[in-house]
Amino acid sequence: MNIRALAAQVVFQVLENGASLSNVLPQHQAQLANGKDRALLAELSYGVMRVLPQLDNCISQRLQKPFKNKQRLLHHLLLIGCYQLYFTRIPAHAAISETVEACRQLGFENFVKVINGVLRNVQRAEAPLETSNDTLKYCFPGWLVKKLKAAYPDSWEQIIEQSQQRPPMWLRNNQRQQSRDEFLAQLAEIDIDASAGLTADAMLLATPTDVSALPRFAEGSVSVQDQAAQWAATLLEPQDGELILDACAAPGGKSCHILESADVRLVALDNDAKRLERVSENCQRLGLDATILCADAANIDASWSGEQFDRILLDAPCSATGVIRRHPDIKWLRKAADIDALQKVQAQILDHCWKWLKPGGTLLYATCSILPDENSQQIEAFVARTPDATLETITAAKENGATGWQILPGQDNMDGFYYAKLVKAIV
Ligand SMILES: C[S@@+](CC[C@H](N)C(=O)[O-])C[C@H]1O[C@@H](n2cnc3c(N)ncnc32)[C@H](O)[C@@H]1O
Repeated sequence: MNIRALAAQVVFQVLENGASLSNVLPQHQAQLANGKDRALLAELSYGVMRVLPQLDNCISQRLQKPFKNKQRLLHHLLLIGCYQLYFTRIPAHAAISETVEACRQLGFENFVKVINGVLRNVQRAEAPLETSNDTLKYCFPGWLVKKLKAAYPDSWEQIIEQSQQRPPMWLRNNQRQQSRDEFLAQLAEIDIDASAGLTADAMLLATPTDVSALPRFAEGSVSVQDQAAQWAATLLEPQDGELILDACAAPGGKSCHILESADVRLVALDNDAKRLERVSENCQRLGLDATILCADAANIDASWSGEQFDRILLDAPCSATGVIRRHPDIKWLRKAADIDALQKVQAQILDHCWKWLKPGGTLLYATCSILPDENSQQIEAFVARTPDATLETITAAKENGATGWQILPGQDNMDGFYYAKLVKAIV
């Protein structure tokens, strides 16, 4: 099957079946032998997610009747076709002929003329028109634009603009294997341009690269992790000998960073057994050891009979609105109603984990959300109902006085993230 046909199937799976792009794309990439073809499939699939409303609009203006049921796949093929014509440098004749060929390969021989006609029409047209409709203008769902306007009256447009960018690639040095300076020197030797970040282990690549190009990646020299996520281990401050709970641990990025940073006993807990397999794989590659536990973080009593924890990292399930630049499909998969449900689960997990924290212990609450509902408001409500909880100031935070630290997308090249550090009173 050609790349456009595969791309239409990927986009169909995400937009019609609610699958996540990061799950579906690798399955389809596996059908392509050539690295360049795999990269083009990713570019087309991610690209469509970034500018979906403009492409939808472009198609609906040119079709007399929308495609329905099984033929819906053709709508997604047209999205791929329009994306190539408007947003890539692929020559129009190649974009159109490959997309028309994909129509045949997908078994829609009878629609070849329609697909060809629509794409030729798009080719002759101007770029998409200016519009005052927020969804079309910003390629962001209306409900989210509304929430961002309310939360960030001065910077919401910048947040959206940053969320539409292609993300940089950050690495985390495995300090158990070499110093960051040593690894940066090894990268320089093979002409990979990288610079040190703000946290102890972070390195920013000038250009994203395949991990197979990185020195000793398979042996655990480094991991791929945004600097915003690397703040978790820094802020948690794990100390040798401590017992630590990572309450929502899979796929284990932050667990592994904690284990690289100190000689601790770490329980990596998650309620998703499949995702927990990734924690084991990551620990294995990095030469680390964790106790892996599949349980509901809002009720671990039946699965954990051990002592209370010195420190807890609670990287809660969230809207992921801070990482839209990495996962643009979130814009279309996430719905306004999800936020209330997430807020409830976060509160339940917070309350339960608090019980398992030693007096004097620290709980670091984290999300990759930029919505106050899941962040500052969540923590304000928790502190108000939890007499033995005190919020500590995070000194790295630039804005003093706010509840916790809200990192916005693009700030110091980072993903959007939130941290709040809570300490339990000794009574
Ligand atoms: C933001 S991700 C965690 C990312 C992880 N900390 C890392 O750095 O690789 C949130 C995780 O919470 C898990 N989760 C969701 N609800 C949960 C629950 N009730 N109990 C335990 N884990 C849960 C999900 O399976 C998901 O793996």
